Amino acid sequence: MINREIHFAQRPSPQPSLDCFKLVENELGEELKDGQVLVKNLWMSVDPYMRPRMNDVKSYIPPFQLDHVLEGGAIGVVEKSNNPKLPVGTHVESMNGWREYFVSSGKGLGIRDTSTIAPQDYLGILGMPGITAYVGTKILGEAKAGDTVYVSGAGGAVGSLVCQIAKALGCTVVGSAGSDAKVEWLLNTAKIDAAFNYKTEADFAAKLAALCPKGIDLFFDNVGGSQLDGALLSMRKNGRAILCGTIEDYNEAPEKRHGVKNLFKVVALGVTMKGFVVLDYMAEHHQAFTADMAKWRSEGKIDWQETVYEGVDKAPEAFLGLFNGANLGKMLVKLAD
Ligand SMILES: NC(=O)c1ccc[n+]([C@@H]2O[C@H](COP(=O)([O-])OP(=O)(O)OC[C@H]3O[C@@H](n4cnc5c(N)ncnc54)[C@H](OP(=O)(O)O)[C@@H]3O)[C@@H](O)[C@H]2O)c1
Repeated sequence: MINREIHFAQRPSPQPSLDCFKLVENELGEELKDGQVLVKNLWMSVDPYMRPRMNDVKSYIPPFQLDHVLEGGAIGVVEKSNNPKLPVGTHVESMNGWREYFVSSGKGLGIRDTSTIAPQDYLGILGMPGITAYVGTKILGEAKAGDTVYVSGAGGAVGSLVCQIAKALGCTVVGSAGSDAKVEWLLNTAKIDAAFNYKTEADFAAKLAALCPKGIDLFFDNVGGSQLDGALLSMRKNGRAILCGTIEDYNEAPEKRHGVKNLFKVVALGVTMKGFVVLDYMAEHHQAFTADMAKWRSEGKIDWQETVYEGVDKAPEAFLGLFNGANLGKMLVKLAD
């Protein structure tokens, strides 16, 4: 059987391009050893965190290795099995994305119930982006009724959920995103209180100040850099800034990254800044997240959007699209029906 997969061909310097990826075909043996399963991937995720993993630097997760298949979240179905715990037809989540098929001993595979849940939801609203939004907003951000919440990157997977979780908790929500279509979705579907296109706004900080006249109680930051700097000017006394990501700088060389110039606002206003990596919070908060999300969805409080590319050969394009705003909601690659 022929498997197609994407290998890491070259490190970005610093802009990633299609040259960083190589489509490789290989033959998977027909025979499975005892305990092994053959998994056909149905969906794979591309995520911004993969970009820092392309740099050869130590971080909370090891860098990708050149000339190896890339890794990332995927959901697939067991097609052949020599493992009684994983019969044919079982849906499994793994970190073996960027490939069509793989053989596994079963280690690292999570069984997922798809009887009432779309398989790809485990990579999005019910998966890593969903719990990131939940932990950052409700647990660490302590969003509560009456707060003014500002969300950068508001049209993406995490940001779109942060906006709606904050609305469900009774907050006034302002979001920014990089296209008029995303702004329209934020206002008319997510029904947040105000939204603007940061790419066409001449004075980001002035616009944000005008939309948050009482100041920002909770800032959920997906972008960092100039947006973090601008938002600090509008923080309220004892406000909270939850730093989730700094995508504005992921493709910048270290010396070109945006510095924060308004840090004194943190001092003067007693602002709390808290960064986090969701992996550190998943086990503790997964149950509450699932229960709250199910409740909010049943109450019609959460809309969920996906942007889908088809075929493993399109995965690099989908990944690069994260850096020019090609996605509304979660960016996904569909690999098979
Ligand atoms: N801390 C954690 O554990 C954790 C977990 C998941 C994700 N994250 C972080 O959360 C953020 C969002 O992740 P996601 O998975 O939901 O991705 P996403 O928001 O669905 O996709 C990325 C979006 O970032 C925006 N963007 C790209 N380059 C930008 C730039 N230079 N300036 C401003 N915006 C830019 C684009 O939207 P526009 O059209 O608005 O430009 C793009 O659609 C990322 O920073 C990611 O690294 C952190």
